[in-house]
Amino acid sequence: MIRSVVRGIGSALPRRIMKNADFEGMVETSDEWIAQRTGIRQRHIAADDETTASLGEAAARAALDNAGLTPADIDLIVLATSTPNNTFPATAVEIQNRLGMRHGFAFDMQAVCSGFVYAVTTADLYIKGGLAKRVLVIGSETFSRILDWSDRSTCVLFGDGAGALVLEAAEGQGTIADRGVLAASLRSDGTHKDKLYVDGGPSTTGTVGHLKMEGREVFKHAVGMITDVIEDVFTQADISADDLDWFVPHQANKRIIDASAKKLGIPEDKAVVTVHLHGNTSAASVPLALSAAVADGRIKKGDLVMLEAMGGGFTWGAVLVRW
Ligand code: UT7
Repeated sequence: MIRSVVRGIGSALPRRIMKNADFEGMVETSDEWIAQRTGIRQRHIAADDETTASLGEAAARAALDNAGLTPADIDLIVLATSTPNNTFPATAVEIQNRLGMRHGFAFDMQAVCSGFVYAVTTADLYIKGGLAKRVLVIGSETFSRILDWSDRSTCVLFGDGAGALVLEAAEGQGTIADRGVLAASLRSDGTHKDKLYVDGGPSTTGTVGHLKMEGREVFKHAVGMITDVIEDVFTQADISADDLDWFVPHQANKRIIDASAKKLGIPEDKAVVTVHLHGNTSAASVPLALSAAVADGRIKKGDLVMLEAMGGGFTWGAVLVRW
């Protein structure tokens, strides 16, 4: 059977780093509160000339270099983002243009922090359906542009960045030993909209709006939702936590990562954590964490890797990949 195998990976971050202490004169907070409650120590913040499209393009070029490919080899670009450059056209099409591609097709996916997990699953189906052979899957965000910088309960949590994978069609045996995307579980439930949303949009206010979150409420649901979809993937693939080499979770809060890993029986040293470096970068969070763990040699060819994310909507999901 056809499998969607990871051929390359890359990432890109804005030049400017903002440390927790940099918030201390802006809102009533402290490095200690942010680090203790979230694990975050710093985040990257985009300058005016750094956008979701420019960061996405840089991550895509890095992934193509890593794969030994050029834009000519790509059929499809799926961009996960909730902070597009414009309401339309899709920022994926802008990235396609920036890469000099006049062939193939590109579109955005909007599932907030779960966007990358949704996008990998979607790209896998396009490859298995025969509509594409090589797909650039990108998560790129500039959440700094939708933050209320006077709201201490949200502005300290998020950051900007991008990560990308090249997925490629390859022949597999249809077993768990195959490389590539092996199983996935996606969920959404709109009854939770008011717990995490942006209070603007083209069809309502005509403005971009600002991020609003009832953090404690999101936290309360996160661990249960994350572990539910991962257990569903375990069942589909007929594996257990012991079979995993790496757990690459959404990077929103170290306490959520620790609690999810504990509930699933995944040892702490198998969880990839980058939240201290990047904060919550929404759809860019999972590919940024993956990039870090591939770059430092932790994730290697053949490793069994569980990706998961949970965010606004609510949306949540998990994907099992053999690297
Ligand atoms: O990516 C999408 C998914 N998003 C998430 O997963 C986020 C989930 N939520 C969280 O990570 C946590 O709930 C937060 C980090 C947002 C908050 O941590 P918490 O332990 O749930 O704190 P809390 O909301 O219960 O607030 C505790 C106190 C409050 O003061 P009172 O009411 O106890 O007097 C807040 O006003 O901390 C206060 N507080 C702050 N203090 C200093 C809230 N933000 C800050 C801040 N600095 N930045």
